[in-house]
Amino acid sequence: MTEKQESDIQLREALPVDLELLTFWDSQPHVVASDPNDDWHWGEELSRKPPWREMLIAELDGKPIGFVQIIDPATEESHYWDDVEPNLRAIDIWIGDVAYLGKGYGTHIMIQVIARCFDDPAVTAILVDPLASNVRAHRFYERLGFRFTEARTFGADRCHVYRLDRGRKESPHL
Ligand SMILES: CC(C)(COP(=O)(O)OP(=O)(O)OC[C@H]1O[C@@H](n2cnc3c(N)ncnc32)[C@H](O)[C@@H]1OP(=O)(O)O)[C@@H](O)C(=O)NCCC(=O)NCCS
Repeated sequence: MTEKQESDIQLREALPVDLELLTFWDSQPHVVASDPNDDWHWGEELSRKPPWREMLIAELDGKPIGFVQIIDPATEESHYWDDVEPNLRAIDIWIGDVAYLGKGYGTHIMIQVIARCFDDPAVTAILVDPLASNVRAHRFYERLGFRFTEARTFGADRCHVYRLDRGRKESPHL
């Protein structure tokens, strides 16, 4: 990964104008495979800005290539994470277009997202919950410094929960 690629990735707020793009990405087989049972209700959610959430588009040289959601799992209104300690963040991420997978962009998006989460001095750790079957995503998060904490069922999904504590070196391989 070159410095150019890293610096050319920008995160911006996801907006109602991104509805078509997000609906398209959400229908792509590699995205469906990673998240088969959630309905994101894009039409409604893109017009809302609850205090417990950021929805972001990652752009490469101005071209949207990925989506990231950051939530505060303790205050998120559906209580997806159930009883969870305060001062955490939980992340969802995908690269939308299959042509951009496996080129290092996800890693650089995550490095920015991790820094963004820990910019808040109160935040102690970040959680992710890939499907138990998504072993490539497990490797991706492990390379970023996340550690497996537990297997857990969310709705219909058997997941593996990974956690990155503040102060852990994010990316030993870069
Ligand atoms: C996971 C993801 C965000 C990583 O971004 P990326 O730009 O593809 O990843 P990078 O190029 O920075 O790193 C490569 C690593 O990403 C992971 N990866 C690549 N393609 C993947 C895919 N289709 N599904 C899951 N993980 C993948 C692998 O760990 C890969 O390393 P490997 O080649 O040794 O297996 C991206 O692959 C993706 O959107 N996958 C589909 C959706 C998904 O699984 N999201 C995570 C759900 S929790």
